[in-house]
Order: sequence, then C-alpha cells, then structure tokens
Amino acid sequence: MRFILLIHCLLFAPFVLRAQVSTLMPVPSSVLPGDGRLVIDTTFRVSVTRFSDDRLQRAIARGVRRLEERVTVPLVSTPVPAGEPATLKIEVAGAGQRVQGVDENESYRLDVTPAGATLRAPTVVGAIHGIETLLQLVTSDAATHFIPDVVIDDKPRFPWRGLLVDVGRHFMPVEQVKKTLDGMAMVKLNVLHWHLSEDQGFRVESKRFPKLHQLGSDGEYYTQEQLRDVVTYARDRGIRVVPEFDMPGHSTAWFVGYPQYTTRPGPIKIRREWGGADAIFDPTREEVYTFIDRFIGEMVRIFPDAYWHIGGDEVEGKHWNANRRIVAWRRRQGFRTNADLQAHFNRRLTTILTRHKRRMIGWDEILNPRLPKQTVVQSWRGTNYLRDAAKAGFTSILSAPYYLDHIKPASDFYLADPVPRTTDLTPAEQALVLGGEACMWSEFVSHETTDSRLWPRLGAVAERLWSPGEITNVADMYRRLDILAGRLEARGIRVLTHSERMLRKFYPVGDLTLLDTLLTVVQPPFFAQTLNGKPTNQLQPLTRIVDAARPDPPARWLTERLVRRFVVNAFDSAAHDSLVTLFARWRDLAPGVEALARQATEIGEALPATMALQRTSTIGLEALQHVRRGTRPDSTWLLTASADLKRYETPQGLLRVAIVPEVRKLLALLQGVVQ
Ligand code: ACM
Repeated sequence: MRFILLIHCLLFAPFVLRAQVSTLMPVPSSVLPGDGRLVIDTTFRVSVTRFSDDRLQRAIARGVRRLEERVTVPLVSTPVPAGEPATLKIEVAGAGQRVQGVDENESYRLDVTPAGATLRAPTVVGAIHGIETLLQLVTSDAATHFIPDVVIDDKPRFPWRGLLVDVGRHFMPVEQVKKTLDGMAMVKLNVLHWHLSEDQGFRVESKRFPKLHQLGSDGEYYTQEQLRDVVTYARDRGIRVVPEFDMPGHSTAWFVGYPQYTTRPGPIKIRREWGGADAIFDPTREEVYTFIDRFIGEMVRIFPDAYWHIGGDEVEGKHWNANRRIVAWRRRQGFRTNADLQAHFNRRLTTILTRHKRRMIGWDEILNPRLPKQTVVQSWRGTNYLRDAAKAGFTSILSAPYYLDHIKPASDFYLADPVPRTTDLTPAEQALVLGGEACMWSEFVSHETTDSRLWPRLGAVAERLWSPGEITNVADMYRRLDILAGRLEARGIRVLTHSERMLRKFYPVGDLTLLDTLLTVVQPPFFAQTLNGKPTNQLQPLTRIVDAARPDPPARWLTERLVRRFVVNAFDSAAHDSLVTLFARWRDLAPGVEALARQATEIGEALPATMALQRTSTIGLEALQHVRRGTRPDSTWLLTASADLKRYETPQGLLRVAIVPEVRKLLALLQGVVQ
C-alpha cells in the first residue's frame, strides 16, 4: 500500500521536486513529496532537542560542513540554544547501543516544509542515516539552494548490510579505509567486514605476538592505535567493524613468525602467488588453541563488535593429509574427513570466542551439523548455501552474488535478493537471513584502484539490502548510480577521475582523449588478471591499462538502453542515430591507439581489445544498416560476424569489449529477418 502511495506521489508531485526526491540512493521505505521548498542560506541553524551526545554532535558538524560545501555559503554548525528557532530540528530519543549491534534501531523520519525540517530518530545511528538522506535532497535553481518538501519514513529491510575489504592481499592505508567508510555511510551500509590476515599478509600489530606483524606483513600493517581509530571512525558513521582472521587455511602469513603452530617446520615465507595455499593450522595440539586464545584475547580489546569472523574457507587439508601424526590423531578421534577435523577446530574456536563474548561467523564451508546453532554462516560459493544454512537453523548472510571483484554489471548485483520472492524458506527461516555483504577481494585491486572497483556498483548492493524488495527498476538504478558517482567523486572517492589518473602513471604527458574514450567501452576480465598469459602475483604493480579500466563502464549501459529502445520501438530512429554515432567513434579509435602504442608498451596491451572493438562496432553498424533497410546480409557475413562476436566475449588481451552482448542482440534481430 505504501509502495503504491510512493508511486502515486512520484507521478503527481511537481517535476523538480519529484526529480530531486528521486535522486535518493538507497530509496527510502516511504517517501511523500509535497510541493514547497525549504531554502538553505546563511540563516540556516540546527537545534538538538531531547538527547544529544558527542557522536551526534560530530555527525551534525560533519553534515553541516558538507551542506556548506554544497551550497557554497558559510553555515553555522553549532546548535542553537534550547527554545530558539532552527531550520533543522534534530530530535533523537537516545544514544542507541553502546556497541552497535544487529538489532540497533536504524530508522528515522524526516519532515521538510518551507518553515523548516525535522529529523526524528530513536537512536543516533538513525539520525546519522537521516542526515545522509537530507544531504542527498539538497538541490538548487538559478537563485537558491533548497530542499523540497517531503516526508520520509525510513528503515532498513535487512539489519546486516556489509562490505568485505581484503587488506591481506593488498594493503589499504588507513586513509583509504576511512574513505571507503565515508562512501558506505552515504549509502547506509553498516558493516565493514575487515579481512585482516591472508597467505599474503598479516595486517595488525600484535603486542603479544609481535612477529606476526613484524615478519608477516612486509611492514604494511595497522598499529593498534590505527585500528582503534578506524573502529571509532566507523562507529561515528553508524558502521560496525567485524574483523576476520582467516583460519585454519589462508594463514601462511601467521607462520612466518610462528611456524610452530602449523604442521611443518619452518622457515615459512609470505606467499606471493594467488590461490589457496597449503599451509594450515595444526588442529591437534593444545598449544595452537592457547596461542589463538591469547591472540583473540588481545584483539577483542580493539574490536568491540559482538561478531567475530574466523574465515574457514577453502580448506583442503593437504598438509593435514601429509602429516602422519595428524592423520593418526584424526583416526583416533573417529573423524572420517578433513571437514570433520575442521568442524572440531571450529568447535574449539567457538569455545574460545564464547569465553571472549563473541559470536562466530565463518564462510559456508564451516556449515556442519556439529556446530552450535549460534554460529553465523556467510554464503559465498552459491545462494544455495544460504538456503541450506537457514534450513538447518543457522543465521546467515549472503555474499555469493555480491563479489564486486568479479567484474560484473551493477544490474547483476542489484537483482540478486537475499530473500527473493520465489524463496522456499519459511517465514521463520527467512528471519534467520540477516542480510548480505559485498566482497572486495584484492588479488587484482590496490589502494589506487579500489575506489573504481567498489563504486558506484556498491550503491546497487546497498540499495538491495536497505530498500523495499519491490524497488527493482534497473534503468532507474543506473540513473541514480550516475548521481551517486558524482557525489562520491565530490568526496574524494575517485570514481569519475579514475581512468585518467591511472593512465597518467604510464603516460604522463600527452592527450588522453582516445584512451579515455576506449575505457568507456572496455572493462577488466571477469576475474584473473594475467601478464603475458601467465598468472601474476602480489609483487606485480597494478598500474597497467587493465587497472585504468573500470567495471561496468558507462557505454555498456548506454548501449544496452539504446539497443533496447531501437528494438522495442520499431527501429526508433533517434536510438538508431545515437548507436551509429557511437559505433563509428569506437570503430575509428584503432589508428590513434596504434600510434600511441608506439610510444608506450602499456598502451600496446590495449590493442587486441581496440581491434575487437573496431570489428564489433563495424558489425554493429552493418547490422543496423540491414535492419533499417530490411536487407538480408549474406550467410557468410552472418556466420563470420557471429563467430567473431562469440570470440570477443572473452578478454582480448586483458580487456573485454563491454558492448559485445548488445551487438549480438542486433545480430539476433537480423537472424530473425533472414529466417
Ligand atoms: C572466499 O571467497 N574464499 C570466501
């Protein structure tokens, strides 16, 4: 009913106001636009009634600074004394939980009238979300800045809306992590899942076991002071920090300093190659659990969240199998498989974590009937694991469809729902699904490229997890994702400027127009980035043309939209003309890129994709011509075009031509004509 009301309001409110309300991302659960406006100028004042604390004061100060940047006049951020009039009245009922939990009340209500705005929230976290919404509502005309009249009643659909950031494979400096937290707050994500240890690096300072960071990190780790600072920074933005220390696998970096806790004598080196390593904790010895217990005991003083991620993924146990003592022990315990042995290890971890008042989360491999039901299962291998976990009575989180490091379009992420309408989970089982987490694994992502690989696509996941399930219009999502990209760029999250900055690393001087155009229409491979056909490793700098490329580049969606318009609207001539202009431009890039490649070998890496783009665009142009004229291409042309497009579905060199599926649609149209 509320949704119908929302549609009704969006349709009938005056256009300008409607337009601004409809730039919100994520879409609130209820929006009722009016037809006036609240002007924002130097008379702007804030009041805080009922409850206030330092966290709320800081959120207000930050919000007013951002508002000031937007309206470009100085604004007063200090709240007015009680009883005095204010433009924005903030009424918060209480602080919320001392340590933000999954059951924190994150709702808020925002009323904007020409006389003033009121933001009401039961907790400071709700107010923090409301301030983000308010900032997204600000707009302008030639004379004034203003917020359109509106009543917004908002709350999240899922309580767990996370992002995994992998700093094990490639370290991300604190400033980068904070920037990511800023972006997360803008789209109301509320969990930073911080993957802090990997085969390739151990990233936290341990005072109890200093060789962990001293020998396991190449000097790239967070001091305890920095870790605390990030946790505080996140809490200030309504974001929880859940640390992950992956075990028993993905753990080589632990053993560089402490080889006594694995299954083989040292020395052990930091692993540089990607893919699961064989080094693994020895689950049979008491001193291993004592070590883990003491380590966790140190870390819980830094990470107050009630949840603790133990990893648990991709454990083959090759080194368990190769160790006669462990095999004999496993047999004596009556464990048939390594999965049983891992379940034993996990049960021991549960005991340790329970003693430290933490609830255990692990990747879906940990799913095992022997585990206590308070364990949380995070599905990554497929949505079926989410289902299986919920059916078995486990609380769970969905990540399988939200791997941002897999270079898929935003629409794929957007349409993947943790609890789709077709679910066969009972209401009680559905209640066990806490939400989802996007994942940014960092084999092929550095602190220089992570902004562009996260954003703006992460906005699509954030909306899926916050907004009502009925909000599924992909075209509207892309329209608002573009707006989000601009807002992120304004805050220093380098989305729009990414390609140019990266191209400058290997092509510092010279005109970038051609390469910029190329990079609007080609994208990185789905996952593995190679060098001369061989796997790369941690030491390979991520500053090649593939790193300048972006996932889901803008011309992909543009072309998809135009092709759809062309097909649906009986060969719409405006769509036809736009496609012709685009295809001709892309076809003609080749000579220029070839000339540039003679100056820089890195640009040479783009040649195979440039040639594939030339051919794809040519096929597109010829196909359009045939459709338009109603002529038949000869069968040889069709066969060759079809075979070429099939080939171009895979990366050419390291880059994929993003529009191949769209040109295939044009070809299919022709095949229809020919038949
Ligand atoms: C994972 O991607 N190995 C959790």
